[in-house]
Amino acid sequence: MEAVYLVKNGKPEVAFERKKIELKEPGNDEVTIEVEAFGLNFADVLARLGLYRDCPPLPTVIGYEVVGRIVKIGKDVKNVFESDRVVGFTIFGGYATHVITNAKAVVKIEQDYSTGKALALAVQYCTAFYAVNIATNVLKNDRVLIQAAAGGVGTALVQLCKLKECKIYGTAGSQQKLDYLTNLGVDVPINYNTHDFSTVIKEKVDVVFDSIGGKAFKKGIKLLDYGGRMVAFGAASQLEVGNFFSKIKFGLSFGFYHPVQFIMNSRTLAGVNMLKIGRFQPDILQYCMQNVVALAHEGKIDPHVGGMYPIEKLGEAHLALENRKTIGKIGIVW
Ligand SMILES: NC(=O)c1ccc[n+]([C@@H]2O[C@H](COP(=O)([O-])OP(=O)(O)OC[C@H]3O[C@@H](n4cnc5c(N)ncnc54)[C@H](OP(=O)(O)O)[C@@H]3O)[C@@H](O)[C@H]2O)c1
Repeated sequence: MEAVYLVKNGKPEVAFERKKIELKEPGNDEVTIEVEAFGLNFADVLARLGLYRDCPPLPTVIGYEVVGRIVKIGKDVKNVFESDRVVGFTIFGGYATHVITNAKAVVKIEQDYSTGKALALAVQYCTAFYAVNIATNVLKNDRVLIQAAAGGVGTALVQLCKLKECKIYGTAGSQQKLDYLTNLGVDVPINYNTHDFSTVIKEKVDVVFDSIGGKAFKKGIKLLDYGGRMVAFGAASQLEVGNFFSKIKFGLSFGFYHPVQFIMNSRTLAGVNMLKIGRFQPDILQYCMQNVVALAHEGKIDPHVGGMYPIEKLGEAHLALENRKTIGKIGIVW
């Protein structure tokens, strides 16, 4: 088998090396998947730049999702079978021709379902599904604010909130992305590079989905109505932070909070880390994956694929994601 190793933090041309390695046997509760394609996530960019805390020491193989065919199953596996076409969530190790992952991180998909769309269903739609249905329990007609709404998780959040007939405020950083949000059905698309989203929104909201962090987090929490819920699941704006002092300033820019503020206003602040859910709550991950795959096969959600790149263009794909050029999901085909 072959894998792409992250060997150094920095630009893609120095960061990645392809290597041939021996394929191991799956454990009793694991499956081996022969990979058609693997997905890219913003966390991959952070890992490459050395900004991702959960990343194992280098050299390592990153990557959190694959689509492919099961070629071997462990003796205790009951939910999938050899030769099934599946989408699989991987806790690292996804940038490879073969992966071994827990069977609870795998769900069967239809033979002809688009590879790129299926990749989106793993990390991005599961994160969104968990954020919408478990962390914040979005209700019918809620007013929601979705940051970076044209991205992979952003698109998923929009579609899942549309199913609940929410009024959606969605932010993005370019006119092309705003047009995309209008087509997705976002009620109020906001270019947060040219407008302060917190002044464009003239009412309180019920739910805020924040993946930007820093000042955006602080402004988001101020928009919450009584009974409002906020979920923090990323801090993309950390890419703009340089030296040690600006890191401290960035940390402080989130603001300071006391539980009494949340009690008095009946507000909720939740955090999501799907890698931790995958590692420590595999049944919840399986529940999220089954739900998003079912919704996709029923046509109730429809991931947008912004680009599928050949393996030789992994670096180009990474730079597109880092430089905010992508819309929806991007993936890499072997
Ligand atoms: N906690 C979890 O379990 C979990 C799981 C998945 C993803 N995430 C987080 O969710 C967010 C979205 O992930 P994704 O994979 O779907 O990526 P993505 O949204 O497709 O791409 C990231 C987007 O973030 C926006 N962004 C805002 N400030 C940025 C900056 N300073 N530099 C670069 N991009 C910036 C950009 O959109 P605009 O151009 O519109 O600003 C960019 O396209 C990320 O923050 C990621 O870390 C968390």
